[in-house]
Amino acid sequence: MRAALSSVPGKQQQGSEFLRDVLEGLGGKTKTLPCKYLYDEVGSRLFEEICAAEDYYLTRTETDLFTKNLGDIAREIGSGALLIEPGAGNCEKIEMLIAELNAPRGYYPMDISPEILQAAEARIKCHLPGIQVWSEVGDFTQPAVWDKLSTIPSRKRVVFFPGSTIGNFEPQKSVQLLELFAANLGAGDGLLICTDLVKDSVVLERAYHDSAHVTERFNKNLLCRINRELDANFDLSLFAHRAFYHPLRQRVEMHLVSLRRHDVSIAGIRVEFAEGETIHTESCHKYTINGFNALLSKGGFKPIRHWKDASESYAIHYAQAI
Ligand code: TRP
Repeated sequence: MRAALSSVPGKQQQGSEFLRDVLEGLGGKTKTLPCKYLYDEVGSRLFEEICAAEDYYLTRTETDLFTKNLGDIAREIGSGALLIEPGAGNCEKIEMLIAELNAPRGYYPMDISPEILQAAEARIKCHLPGIQVWSEVGDFTQPAVWDKLSTIPSRKRVVFFPGSTIGNFEPQKSVQLLELFAANLGAGDGLLICTDLVKDSVVLERAYHDSAHVTERFNKNLLCRINRELDANFDLSLFAHRAFYHPLRQRVEMHLVSLRRHDVSIAGIRVEFAEGETIHTESCHKYTINGFNALLSKGGFKPIRHWKDASESYAIHYAQAI
């Protein structure tokens, strides 16, 4: 295994953590599952399918916004930047960005899926052969996954966080995540971060309940994964995918709804489901520009500027660590 993978906990340790988190999430009064477990290899591939789905406007809009404003964004970042990407995924956008930058120092991607990260690294090395890459497998919310950064001297660090991924964190957790970013940056270093904006609930709900049912497969893959990895017997036909916009919380919530009363066994432990009971698997928060600027400030950043598409559906923000 490559040195970059040496910080990955052993499979067994990962498995017991997964079991603990699943039992804890399903043992409470309202059932939840941590969304990070959606991204195993199958989940990560399904996620790429979501991004390409007709009803899922986010990726398309973000790519357009990047393409149109690339020069501007690159100027804002400046020269000699080390780009850090928590949750690198397939790297398409970073490639565009790095290609536009003046003398970039290198690229530090992190991802929870080793397969996805390896593929991304191979792609960058092929398309941008001059770029130095330091990849880290792991959960980017863990400070240790950022540790190697301290060994890479650079003029400027910029965290790149696209995909409206910040929206998948609960409000308090999103501030903590921004604080973690800020802790790994010096004053004046950058954060390039994208958000989906508050809009008509029909458009929002269609994006998360797409007609090709990819999001449904993505959501249900979590139960498949628990069956596969934790010796469980979830019957997928007894759960329905549900996604709805909650205007007060300004978020789309994804749930798996139990269609009738039944029990599931997970590693020999019985979990009861009532008819209509839901497992909350993910939230996707939507923002206004002012609301997001306030969040940036709380997390230790000074908002510098932002770019929006013509229909004000989506935004790219540039902020500086204070
Ligand atoms: N962050 C994106 C969003 O909020 C992508 C995403 C994360 C997503 N989890 C998802 C999309 C679950 C669909 C379903 O939309």
